[in-house]
Amino acid sequence: MKKLLKGLNIYLIGLMGSGKTTVGELLAKELEYRFLDTDAIITAVAEKSINQIFAEDGEMEFRQLESDVLQQVSAYLYTVIATGGGIILRQENWSHLRDGMVIWLDVPVNILVQRLKHDDTRPLLKTEKLETKLSSLYQERKRLYQQADIIIEMGENDSPEDIVKKIISTIPSKIKQEKEEINI
Ligand code: S3P
Repeated sequence: MKKLLKGLNIYLIGLMGSGKTTVGELLAKELEYRFLDTDAIITAVAEKSINQIFAEDGEMEFRQLESDVLQQVSAYLYTVIATGGGIILRQENWSHLRDGMVIWLDVPVNILVQRLKHDDTRPLLKTEKLETKLSSLYQERKRLYQQADIIIEMGENDSPEDIVKKIISTIPSKIKQEKEEINI
């Protein structure tokens, strides 16, 4: 698989709580790739939590940091990159995402609610009722997430290992398809 990918980066996109970090770490191990997480790099660079960045500097500043970090990590090869849920919002980010293979972890909102009900690290979820907020983010962002190269729909009982298996079994056909498109 590593040979097949030829170093192509893999970007995991999807809503908060969709498992990008957990799945990404496992996937990287499986592919013998490096693993990076844009949120983790942002907090390391800014030396503050995402909550603090939103509260002290505002969402615009966070989005700028996110774009800067994405630009930097896109220079790597052989890397699985877990992105923040809002990375798909800026058009300029897509030029970097498109350099790799983009995978949307599509997880039903009811599962996200279960996973995030005790979470206090996501500033966007502090305002409204959790389910209402996640449902509206899902609706607003769906058409952007759908621009991924691969869409992995998560079933109720899928473990992170199951998701990694699904991804790994889908990648070869996707690479073949892309080669065919280039040859046309
Ligand atoms: C956000 C998702 C978060 C983080 C920030 C904003 C979003 O990342 O980047 O709180 O806009 O969906 P995760 O998707 O890793 O939770």
